[in-house]
Amino acid sequence: MKHIIIHLIFLGLLAVNCTVQQGSRRVEVLDSNWQFINEDVKGAEQLNFNTDNWEIVTVPHDWAIKGPFDEAVDKQSGIIKQNNEKIANEKTGRTGALPHVGVGWYRKVFNVPDYNNNKKVLLTFDGAMSQPQVYINGTKVGEWKNGYNYFYFDISEYLQEGDNLLAIRLENLPYSSRWYPGAGLFRKVQLVIKDEVSFKHWGHFITTPQVSSESATITINSKINGRDCHVETIIKDAAGNVVASQQSEAGAGEIEQILTVENPAIWDVDTPNLYYAELSLYQNGVLKDMQTVRFGIRNIEYNADKGGFLLNDKVTKFKGVCLHHDLGPLGAAINKAALKRQLTILKDMGCNAIRSSHNMPSLEQLELCDEMGFLFLAESFDEWKKPKMENGYNLFFDEWAEKDVVNLVHATRNHPCIVMWSSGNEVPDQHGKEGVERAKWLQDIFHREDPTRPVTVGMDQVKAVMKSGFGAVMDIPGLNYRVHLYEEAYEKFPQGMLLGSETASTVSSRGYYRFPVEQIKDNYNATKEQKEHFYGNTYQCSSYDLEYCGWSNLPDDDFVLQDDKPWVIGEFVWTGFDYLGEPTPFDQFWPSRSSYFGICDLAGLPKDRYYLYRSRWNTEDETLHILPHWNWEGREGETTPVFVYTNYNSAELFVNGVSQGIQSKTKDKSKQHRYRLMWMGVKYEPGTIRVVAYDDKGKVAAEKEVHTAGKAHHIELSADRRNIHADGQDLAYVTVSVVDKDGNLCPHANNQLEFEVTGAGQFKAVCNGDATSLEMFHKPTMKAFNGQLVVTVQSMNETGDIQLKVKSEGLKTASITIKTK
Ligand code: GAL
Repeated sequence: MKHIIIHLIFLGLLAVNCTVQQGSRRVEVLDSNWQFINEDVKGAEQLNFNTDNWEIVTVPHDWAIKGPFDEAVDKQSGIIKQNNEKIANEKTGRTGALPHVGVGWYRKVFNVPDYNNNKKVLLTFDGAMSQPQVYINGTKVGEWKNGYNYFYFDISEYLQEGDNLLAIRLENLPYSSRWYPGAGLFRKVQLVIKDEVSFKHWGHFITTPQVSSESATITINSKINGRDCHVETIIKDAAGNVVASQQSEAGAGEIEQILTVENPAIWDVDTPNLYYAELSLYQNGVLKDMQTVRFGIRNIEYNADKGGFLLNDKVTKFKGVCLHHDLGPLGAAINKAALKRQLTILKDMGCNAIRSSHNMPSLEQLELCDEMGFLFLAESFDEWKKPKMENGYNLFFDEWAEKDVVNLVHATRNHPCIVMWSSGNEVPDQHGKEGVERAKWLQDIFHREDPTRPVTVGMDQVKAVMKSGFGAVMDIPGLNYRVHLYEEAYEKFPQGMLLGSETASTVSSRGYYRFPVEQIKDNYNATKEQKEHFYGNTYQCSSYDLEYCGWSNLPDDDFVLQDDKPWVIGEFVWTGFDYLGEPTPFDQFWPSRSSYFGICDLAGLPKDRYYLYRSRWNTEDETLHILPHWNWEGREGETTPVFVYTNYNSAELFVNGVSQGIQSKTKDKSKQHRYRLMWMGVKYEPGTIRVVAYDDKGKVAAEKEVHTAGKAHHIELSADRRNIHADGQDLAYVTVSVVDKDGNLCPHANNQLEFEVTGAGQFKAVCNGDATSLEMFHKPTMKAFNGQLVVTVQSMNETGDIQLKVKSEGLKTASITIKTK
């Protein structure tokens, strides 16, 4: 259980960085020296097996991310009913065009010297993609189906003296996913070694039923193996001060304790204060087990009469984004530094909530959300019993859904960030009576396992769920898109509030602009030829942020509802970052292989849209952002609209010093005019565009300029962090920009760049955010896309300096140093 923060008492002999000991409990992370093969081999679970041609890998591992991209991988033909497609077509990059389909085997030899000593040994997985079958010393100990979920097996009775072999077979079927799922042991694997008499795995449930600034009640429910046991609990604050303690009565099976913390430091999005419950289990006075569980003191309430969702008694709107689990160029292999970077970028945008679409989140992501102050909507399924995908979760739903929900809740329920569960996304079961029953059944399981949080479903078949009663069943009705049905759904549903569980799905490519500037709703029933005629063959979407899908809408449509309808409790934008797969509207166009939906691109670079959301959501800092770039050779004299995204209500635009007039946000024109400042008639001439923003008193508040860039001259590097941890896992993200002699970004530059990393780190990956690029992320060369890309550098287990050099023919070489400590 990853969110159990273990006191790092390193044992002499076991002093490797991935073993932690607390009392007699030991947790070993199985990360290094795994053997791997991307093949189905007979007998791979046997200890004596020839593994000469196997690769040595570390876990987390994604076997498919090194590619190559290939349009033949999981090509999906037919119509997508959900999207109302009428014409069958062939979708090439829908699951990312990376070789994730097939079988992979992992093997690892390990040793548990004290296994026989009345010990219980658990083998835990935070996820395994997918359908893991787990063997110890040649015997199958169990299996799981859902690749995203946490699960564990008690392997005590399978162990032997000396070497033990853990072997895992994984298989990804074609037609099983709607996006890139990743492949392999993409999340953490651990051994938990503890006494027979001990706390059960995921055995603690900490809740805070009463919270005020004066005091908070903390309820700790602990499940134990053993009788005549009592629990001693110490609660510490973040500084390590003891703020409460208690000794329970003796009991068996389950022990509940109720403690009071005076003047609690409350967990909130701006003050993510955390506490630690140190729990010691005694049997007949003898210490048997210890665990530390981190939690937050906070109060959540959903109450239509009080204004919707209240966090610590304050009405709070979800300013959220949906995230798929992949980390762009790192694939699905989890990395905490990569997740932290995403959240840091989102925090600056003013985002306060994450939805783990459409599956169980990584535990690392939850830990970070606890620490950084994000609200979390933890989702479980994209499919119930009725299929979206031939080989999707529908194959397992009946047998596995309850087990999956139970594990999701048990593994994650002590995270204060989680404020709502989602039992499904756009499940086809929204139609029909059985669907209503399934919705209720799943919701009841969530309630049984966790009575403290409500449940939603992202519903897109809004007419159907209004009629069938499905929508009325849900604790919180979540609407995916369908902005035109919000009013009606609010009237029909009894809950008195609506959540925009998925919004916008606006599409854009960083730094790409299409003319004339107009709204484009993608026609999913257009033929390939019609689409190509319409969009041209760049397979990019315009960053004027006016293009969307047949089922979706523009950000401004959501803003109107969020602002004007107090019963809308917030939104989760599809998506915070581009992800691998689902390259709508170019699903049929090779080489499109990743999404255009992101507010940030696949490399994590903000697109223009980032600033549109920031101008609303970040209420502390100024936003003043101009688009497009100002390098339009060949468009001289042509209409080239200029948009400004800002928190100020009005601004004046100048082109080479000539005023283009003042624009003010207004409700009287289109929805866009309410949230964007737009100069639609600007004629392009090279030079400088300058925007001067005015405050509400008409005073100059801020200014910004964009210049026409000259020839590409040199490379500029900037790192998100200059000091990283020397732990072999930490990452620095270096943005590489091709600039002119004055440092202006060359917005069309596509120079081939080469990367060299020396010193205390290594080259990890590179990504330029171009959804059509077939260059591989792990090779140290890539073309800039619209002037930029991002190189990821990873530390090693040694302190020192990492040097990244970036070269390109005709440009001055650049270098940057990152320190590791
Ligand atoms: C939604 C769906 C998401 C994604 C999105 C693209 O309907 O829930 O998974 O496919 O559409 O617009």
